Amino acid sequence: MSKIIAISNQKGGVGKTATAINLSAALASLKRRVLLIDMDVQGNSSRGFGIDITLVNNSIFDVLIGKININKSIKKTMVKDLDIIPSKPIITSLESYINKNEQNSYLIFKKCLGDLESEYDYIIVDCPPSLGFLTLNVLVAANTVLIPVQCEYFATEAITQILSSVSRIQSQYNPELGIEGFLLTMYDSKSSFADEICNQVRGLFKENTFLTRIPRNVSIPESNAKGLPVTLFRPTSSGALAYISLAKEVIDHEER
Ligand SMILES: Nc1ncnc2c1ncn2[C@@H]1O[C@H](COP(=O)(O)OP(=O)(O)OP(=O)(O)O)[C@@H](O)[C@H]1O
Ligand SMILES: [Mg+2]
Repeated sequence: MSKIIAISNQKGGVGKTATAINLSAALASLKRRVLLIDMDVQGNSSRGFGIDITLVNNSIFDVLIGKININKSIKKTMVKDLDIIPSKPIITSLESYINKNEQNSYLIFKKCLGDLESEYDYIIVDCPPSLGFLTLNVLVAANTVLIPVQCEYFATEAITQILSSVSRIQSQYNPELGIEGFLLTMYDSKSSFADEICNQVRGLFKENTFLTRIPRNVSIPESNAKGLPVTLFRPTSSGALAYISLAKEVIDHEER
């Protein structure tokens, strides 16, 4: 059975998409079968694999509104064992369209995943920077949530906020939802307070914080611009090595 991991944090620009792309590619390089689903209208995960989202016909949104079957939306990527369901820009409100037709609109994504014919070890879902309709649908379907947290002031406050959102989802919709982990991102070894922030987060949330932290590394935005995961674009960069190490930790969680 697939493990469904939501990559979520309502805060913008914290490294959700970089993590979705590069963790997916790293898991595939470790011989796991992976499906990445781009659930953000910005389409940055899709672009990260060189997909022109203005040309996408069969997007995850076409699946959610019942226009196509989920199996028709899957595309292969340049990475062996890694498939993607792309996003596309949408102008009309998806939520209002769906609400007219569905009673339990928060269950739509979960139902669509139930139709998947291919088998995957991991389904990684890149969420938008909000706790709206799309993220709710993902968190209802997910087994765990992986939360990228930028190494900056107020990181612990941000985590406390997210934990309260997760416990609301657990109590109302998905009691099985687990925390895959907090991932410290954009760590800058030259910044004097980055270590302080890391220690603070580890001190308070030790059990749930990944040992791996993702360094600030220019290869990550550069690989993005090239439409490749960093593990392919620059496999020996500090960013690529960190995402491989994260993937190993995620795999180790299966044995917990
Ligand atoms: N480790 C890193 N080192 C350097 N740049 C990074 C790193 N991780 C992400 N970035 C860059 O920071 C920007 C924001 O990252 P990303 O898009 O992954 O964040 P996000 O949380 O998905 O944003 P949004 O909330 O808008 O979806 C991007 O330009 C990305 O290339
Ligand atoms: Mg993003």
